[in-house]
Amino acid sequence: MNLSIGARLIGVGACVPDSVVTNTDLEKLVDTSDEWIRTRTGIRERRVVKDNETASGLAIGAAKDAIAFAGIDPAIIDLIVVATSTPDNLYPSTACLVQADIGATRAAAFDLEAACTGIIYALAVGQQFIGSGTFKTVLVIGVDIHSRFLDWEDRNTCVLFGDGAGAFIMQASEENEILSTYLRADGTGGHLLCIPNSNVAFPHAGTTPPKAISRFLSMNGRVVYEFAIKAVPEAIEAACARAGIQVRDIDFLVPHQANQRIIKAAAERLGFPPEQIVTNIDQYGNTSAASIPLAFSDAVKRGQIKGPVTCALVGFGGGLTWGSAILKWTAKDSRT
Ligand SMILES: CC(C)(COP(=O)(O)OP(=O)(O)OC[C@H]1O[C@@H](n2cnc3c(N)ncnc32)[C@H](O)[C@@H]1OP(=O)(O)O)[C@@H](O)C(=O)NCCC(=O)NCCS
Repeated sequence: MNLSIGARLIGVGACVPDSVVTNTDLEKLVDTSDEWIRTRTGIRERRVVKDNETASGLAIGAAKDAIAFAGIDPAIIDLIVVATSTPDNLYPSTACLVQADIGATRAAAFDLEAACTGIIYALAVGQQFIGSGTFKTVLVIGVDIHSRFLDWEDRNTCVLFGDGAGAFIMQASEENEILSTYLRADGTGGHLLCIPNSNVAFPHAGTTPPKAISRFLSMNGRVVYEFAIKAVPEAIEAACARAGIQVRDIDFLVPHQANQRIIKAAAERLGFPPEQIVTNIDQYGNTSAASIPLAFSDAVKRGQIKGPVTCALVGFGGGLTWGSAILKWTAKDSRT
C-alpha cells in the first residue's frame, strides 16, 4: 500500500448495556430452547438496551474507555468515524453526538454504514487519513442496537443479536502497525440480510397496511451462513497477501462474532487452533459493527491478547460486505 505515514492502534475500549437477556428468557417469547440456540450459534446470553439507552450513549462509553486506555486528551483527536447501522438519528450523526460529549473539540466526525463489516471499513478510512498525512489521531467506533429492529416474535432472528459498542484509537507512528486492509461488497446479495427504512424506501407508507411494510431485520440464515464461511478465509488470505505475510504468521484471529459454527469452520479452513481464536459470542451474541472491537477489548482485558502480537480482524455482513485488517498490537493500557 502506498501510504507515506505509518499508523498504529494505541487504544481499545468497549461498552455494553447492563441488561442481560438469557436464552431461557427467550424461551418465554418464542418457540425456542437454550439448547437449540447454544448448539446452533454458541450464544448463551446477550445485552439489550433499555428504553432510555441509545446507540450514541454506548458509543460514548466505548470511546471514553478507549481514551482512558490510550491515556490521551480527547482534544487531540482529529477525526471520529462511527460505524453503525442503527444510529439515533438520520442526522446529526452518531459521530457528532460522540464528538460533542467527549470534548473532541477539533475532531471532524461522520458515520459510515457497512453493517457488521463497518468497523473494518472504519479502520481502513482511518488508516487512509493518517497515511496521507491529513490527520494524526483517529477514533473509530462500532456500535449497534439491533434489539430495536428485531421482531421479537421471529425466532429465526431475535435469538442472534445483542447490543453493544467497541472502539479503537489509531495514531500516526514511525513504525507502521496497520499492515493491510481488504474491503469487499456485493450489493446483489443485499436482500439476504436487511432492515428496510420504511420511512424512506416507502414514502406512501401511510396508505399501505402497516403489516405489509416491515421495519424489522430479515435474513436468509442458510445463504448468509454459506456466504460467511467463504468470505472469512478469502478476506484473511487477501489481507495477508497485501501485508506480505503468511496466514501462519498471525497470532490471533479476531472474527466478527455472528455464529460460533461460522468462526469454527472458517478457522479450521485457515488452520487456526482454538487458542488463537478470540471469541465472546457466548456472552454478547452478534453485536454487528461492535463485535470485533468488543471481542478485541475483552481479549486484551482478560490477558489473552498481550502485545507484541499480529492479529487478523475479519468481518462480514449486510450489504453484503466483508473485509479484513491485519495489524500488530503493541499498545499498553495507560491505567495499569
Ligand atoms: C440462523 C442459523 C443459526 C440457523 O441455523 P441452521 O442450522 O442453519 O438452522 P436451519 O436454518 O437449518 O433451521 C433448522 C430449523 O430450526 C428452526 N429454527 C430457527 N430458529 C430457531 C430457534 N431460535 N429455535 C428453534 N428452532 C429454530 C427453523 O425454523 C428450522 O425449522 P424447520 O426445519 O422446521 O423449517 C444459521 O443459518 C446461521 O447462523 N446463519 C448465519 C446468520 C448470521 O450470522 N447472520 C448475521 C451475519 S452478520
